[in-house]
Amino acid sequence: MNILEVEHLTRVYGSGDTAVTALDDVSFSVEAGEFIAIIGSSGSGKSTLMHLMGGVDRPTSGTVKLQGQDIFARSDEQLAVFRRREVGLVYQFYNLIPVLDVVENMTLPVLMDGRTINEQRLSALMRALGLTGREHYLPNQLSGGQQQRVAIGRALMNAPSVVLADEPTGNLDSRNSAEIMNLLRASNKQFKQTLIVITHGEDVALMADRVIAIEDGRVVSDERRA
Ligand SMILES: Nc1ncnc2c1ncn2[C@@H]1O[C@H](COP(=O)(O)OP(=O)(O)OP(=O)(O)O)[C@@H](O)[C@H]1O
Ligand SMILES: [Mg+2]
Repeated sequence: MNILEVEHLTRVYGSGDTAVTALDDVSFSVEAGEFIAIIGSSGSGKSTLMHLMGGVDRPTSGTVKLQGQDIFARSDEQLAVFRRREVGLVYQFYNLIPVLDVVENMTLPVLMDGRTINEQRLSALMRALGLTGREHYLPNQLSGGQQQRVAIGRALMNAPSVVLADEPTGNLDSRNSAEIMNLLRASNKQFKQTLIVITHGEDVALMADRVIAIEDGRVVSDERRA
């Protein structure tokens, strides 16, 4: 079953002489439970694609379907609910709330949804992410790698069916990077969570079932690995 369908997705930023076509007619389907790596050089359109798949931004044309439903048919309010419930987004630059501590940042989407925090899941994630003991630190009291791990925890807290992660190990050394990727991969395999990871790291791409390469806003290769 296809959980996600990206159909003729185009995103143009700006207009007139300064218009930039960041994404140019991109289409692909994602099966439930797949682990996909998206690779491509800087400025190729990877983050733009991820923001559209996560409903953070709207396309110029084309659409994204989650479980057969056009996500952009929703109002902005409905789209916000979709982002909190259906997908887990790990932003390239974390997007943590500076005045909230580690636990508050991680549980914010759950609380905003008026749901109760699964304390067991929270402490298991804190442990797995190496954040135990840092519960009440603010983002500016954490290293870049620790902030990155809080952002990953926030995305996983909801146990979403689709996890979209933009360079989730971009600020980590190779040992921490391997640990985080193993955590993401374990939850992908164990819960059949669909995992889409943007990466510059060859080792990360090698863990994926499928690698999609983007250049100049277009898909230039899409290969399933044996
Ligand atoms: N908000 C914006 N306004 C105008 N142009 C933008 C905006 N966001 C991205 N772009 C442009 O769109 C293109 C694709 O950017 P994008 O952030 O998707 O690249 P990327 O592949 O994620 O790069 P990186 O690997 O450096 O993170 C770039 O040329 C960029 O300058
Ligand atoms: Mg990017």
